[in-house]
Amino acid sequence: MGRRWQLERRRDYYYRMAKREKYRSRAAYKLRQLNHRYQLLRRGDVVVDLGAAPGGWMQVALEEVGDGGFVLGVDLQRIADLPHKNAATLVADITDPATAEKIKEKLPRPADVVVSDASPSISGVWDLDQARSVELVRSALRLAEGVLAPGGRFLAKVFQGAMMPELLQLIRERFEFVKVSKPSASRKGSAEVYVIGKGFRRP
Ligand SMILES: C[S@@+](CC[C@H](N)C(=O)[O-])C[C@H]1O[C@@H](n2cnc3c(N)ncnc32)[C@H](O)[C@@H]1O
Repeated sequence: MGRRWQLERRRDYYYRMAKREKYRSRAAYKLRQLNHRYQLLRRGDVVVDLGAAPGGWMQVALEEVGDGGFVLGVDLQRIADLPHKNAATLVADITDPATAEKIKEKLPRPADVVVSDASPSISGVWDLDQARSVELVRSALRLAEGVLAPGGRFLAKVFQGAMMPELLQLIRERFEFVKVSKPSASRKGSAEVYVIGKGFRRP
C-alpha cells in the first residue's frame, strides 16, 4: 500500500467523520484526541480558542465544558455563529497586543484553558513558515499570560524545526508540565505537532 494512498485514506476518514458528526472541521478530532490524552478541558471551564475559524475546536470545547462553561473563539476571519448561549466569537489578530484586552472584555472570569490551532498561510519556504508558526505560538503564549488563571492549561500547534527547543524553554518557564504530542488525526507527513502546558505560573 503506497504511503500517499494511506495518507489520503486517513484524510478522507476524518473528513467524512467530521461531515457525519457535524463538526465544522476535521481538526476537531485533533482536539478530541489531545483532550482524551491530556485532560485539558473540564466541566465548567472558561476556554479561549485562538485561530478558531471555522469553529470545529469550539464545538469540541463546548461539548466538554458543558452548559456551565464558556468558549470564546478568536480569528482573523469571522466565525459563523454557534447555537450555544455560552459561546462567543471575536474577529482579531492574535499577534496584535491590543487583542488581550478585547479577549478579557468578553470573558466572564479568567480563563482555565487557552488553545491555539492558528496556522500561518503557507509560503512553501520552510524556514519562513516555521518562523511564522513559532511567532503565532509566542503570541498565543503572551495572550495566555494575560488571560489565564493560575494553574491553567495551554495547547498550541507549532511546525517543528530548529526553533523548537527555544520555544519549549519559554513554555517550560510558564508551565509545570510540558509535553509535545502529535494526535493520529494529524497527517503523519505534516510537520505540525502540539505543545501542551499544564499548571500555569504567572510571570
Ligand atoms: C487550521 S485553522 C483552525 C481550525 C480550527 N481549529 C477548527 O477546528 O475549526 C487556522 C486558523 O488560524 C487563523 N489565524 C492565522 N493567523 C492568525 C492570527 N494572526 N490571528 C488570528 N487568527 C489567525 C486562520 O485565519 C485560520 O482560520
